[in-house]
Amino acid sequence: MSKFRIGLGVTGGIAAYKAIEVMRLLQKAGCEVSVAMTRHATEFIKPLTFRALTDQYVIVDDYDPANPDPIAHINFSQNIDLLLIVPATANIIAKFANGVADDFLTSTYLASTARVMIAPAMNTTMWEQPATQRNIALLKADGVRFVEPVAGELACKTVGTGKLEDVENIVSQALSLLETTDNRQQTGDRRQETRDKNQGTSPSESPVSSLLSHDSDLLGEHILITVGGTREAIDPVRFISNHSSGKMGFAVAEAAAARGADVTVVSGVTSVEPPENVKVVRGISAKEMHEAVMKELPNATVFIGSAAVADYRPANAPAEKIKKDGKETMSLELVKTPDILADVSKNRTNGLLVIGFAAETSDVIEYARSKMEKKGLDMVVANDITKDGAGFNTDTNVATIITKNGSETDLPKMPKREMADRILDEIIRLRKE
Ligand code: CTP
Repeated sequence: MSKFRIGLGVTGGIAAYKAIEVMRLLQKAGCEVSVAMTRHATEFIKPLTFRALTDQYVIVDDYDPANPDPIAHINFSQNIDLLLIVPATANIIAKFANGVADDFLTSTYLASTARVMIAPAMNTTMWEQPATQRNIALLKADGVRFVEPVAGELACKTVGTGKLEDVENIVSQALSLLETTDNRQQTGDRRQETRDKNQGTSPSESPVSSLLSHDSDLLGEHILITVGGTREAIDPVRFISNHSSGKMGFAVAEAAAARGADVTVVSGVTSVEPPENVKVVRGISAKEMHEAVMKELPNATVFIGSAAVADYRPANAPAEKIKKDGKETMSLELVKTPDILADVSKNRTNGLLVIGFAAETSDVIEYARSKMEKKGLDMVVANDITKDGAGFNTDTNVATIITKNGSETDLPKMPKREMADRILDEIIRLRKE
């Protein structure tokens, strides 16, 4: 039996040919792939290509007399674990978001309860259109997952966000979504997931109404955030690390996604799971975290450095385990790691807001202010980690938010999730200034 059944929807964009590679990788991973195409997609690639590689009829128009199944959209939609759209145009996103069912693929979406993952690819202006971003937010509220497009040179010769994510990354995100669903032994019903998520909200607070009111105040922002502690290898067995749990950073990521932002987390070592609806990239050592951040940075509009990044790493980490050999003492030579926050600030492009954290044990405000100046930050969240209810592994925090304009806001002890919203409120205030 195949691992998962995937309905691969291909829509009309220049990246349509990349769907072949996605299909091939999914098949290699043991999945059964059935393909549906929109009419416009067939302008870029022929159904015969997919038919030859899947050995199945590829549906474009269910009214086509050649179609062997008279109720194809029902049979197709109810026999898949995931509907994966690669590439997705602004048009298909708009139709899915608004329940339009005027062809096979859109009818399949409406007739299916399977998980849905969408990998968009389009011109930057189309991607940034408020209408497109609004439709994406609606679909996210409906439980649909997105594999965000990346920045790069587009087919139209412009440079910007809108390029299809790497096919390997799309496939790995699709498989990990299915594997998590499988592990949780859920039905995989996206509508149930949405109902669960919204349990307890009154009809006036439906996901759509909340998205269109105050809850969507971060729509259009792309937040890149580092979370957790880093690990610096001493040898293949030992490492240097710190007590960071990742709770504060994940709380900010969760709150930002709930307010309509696209969120990418670069995560070091954490003791809690990342929230849903955010993209997670691993960066375990300071160097790996730095590389991952620099790769994601061109897409970001806000950078938040919440990770506890090691300032130094062992100069040499041998490939073999270090032996005691009877020695009573040992010394480690440490060298400076790259300062991610400072480098982001140095490389900032127009409009990027850069926010840092400062965990201190004394002279909190002075140290935080000097960090803000030295690293060229817009805002810093300063903690006195010796205070009751503040610090690394707690569920609460106590902080002072300092901005480059000189404002200082004291946040008394409160749950980290609530503090996350207060931090985001300050970011919105800064954005408006
Ligand atoms: N930071 C970073 N990369 C590093 C070190 C720190 O991005 N290599 C970021 C953290 O995520 C945090 C802020 O910088 O947002 C903390 O500043 P930093 O000066 O490194 O704080 P400390 O390590 O506490 O420094 P010091 O020991 O000088 O107080």
